[in-house]
Amino acid sequence: AQRTATESTVRDTTALDQATLNTILEKNRQGYKQGKVADYIPELGKANAQSLALSVVNSNGTIVSAGDIRQKFTIQSISKIIALMIAVRENGEATIFDKMGYFGTDKPFNHFGNLETMGKPLNPMMNAGAILTTALIKGKGEEPFVKILNMIRFITNNEHINYSHAVYNSERETGHRNRGMFYIMRNNGLIDGEGEEKLNNYFKQCSIEITVEDLAKIGYFFANHCVRYDGNRQYRDPNLSQLIQSQMLIAGMYEFSGEYARTVGLPSKSGVGGGITVSVPGKMGIGAFSPALDQHGNSLAGYRMILDLVKARQLSLF
Ligand code: DON
Repeated sequence: AQRTATESTVRDTTALDQATLNTILEKNRQGYKQGKVADYIPELGKANAQSLALSVVNSNGTIVSAGDIRQKFTIQSISKIIALMIAVRENGEATIFDKMGYFGTDKPFNHFGNLETMGKPLNPMMNAGAILTTALIKGKGEEPFVKILNMIRFITNNEHINYSHAVYNSERETGHRNRGMFYIMRNNGLIDGEGEEKLNNYFKQCSIEITVEDLAKIGYFFANHCVRYDGNRQYRDPNLSQLIQSQMLIAGMYEFSGEYARTVGLPSKSGVGGGITVSVPGKMGIGAFSPALDQHGNSLAGYRMILDLVKARQLSLF
């Protein structure tokens, strides 16, 4: 059963209330105008640029949301933190990070120069590392994808979550750069097995459709030692949440991560579908959605709403 928002505001001084969320949302209503909806995957270009939503799971698990909270959008790169969780649980951290780095980046999400210079991806948040991470999840055919989908369903407690076939097909038809990275990594001996099958799992995981509230629940989960917003402790693992939040902090917003750490100061992960998930360590989860992106591929109005929220409650770690 869900507890009430009033209960949370009494107990927790950082807890967010409906009025604050509404104010922040309205302040950023025009924020999409300086951004651009991603269209390098044609199906993504169909998103309504004016959609806007914000959601918070407070420390005690209560949820407060504002805006287009029923609007579904694809999770895209935010799925990378879920894939990393599964791959590390199955293989151990040492095995995964023997094949990729813990490095931050000054390069865009689809950069893959390191496959040539270092022989492996920079980190699991950029495409090359993420494609490799998913390829390291055990199972035949689409089993690795199904594990990612089921984990997202678990974390959000939402059995209805599925992937968009239209976006998946669009990703597959246009994902030649990702395909290129995959085969370089295969050439480097980092991946074995059937090529396209493994790549399809990555395309499918990016095409999973979620809402802003689902994003806030994912943020909460990693902020709270992998304990779900309703207190379910099935996957509790402080070490894993520490690893994932550290990767979110240093590379979750790609080459913008440094400036983002300066201004927001919280582990966050963006996706080109317009979503951003934020973990406030030990406390809350935040989800933001607006499909118009900045030049780094991060949601512009999403970033601004998060910034306002962080200022309103002094949530920065620093
Ligand atoms: O691999 C791609 O191009 C996309 N499906 C996912 C990339 C993404 O979300 C990068 N993010 N900001």
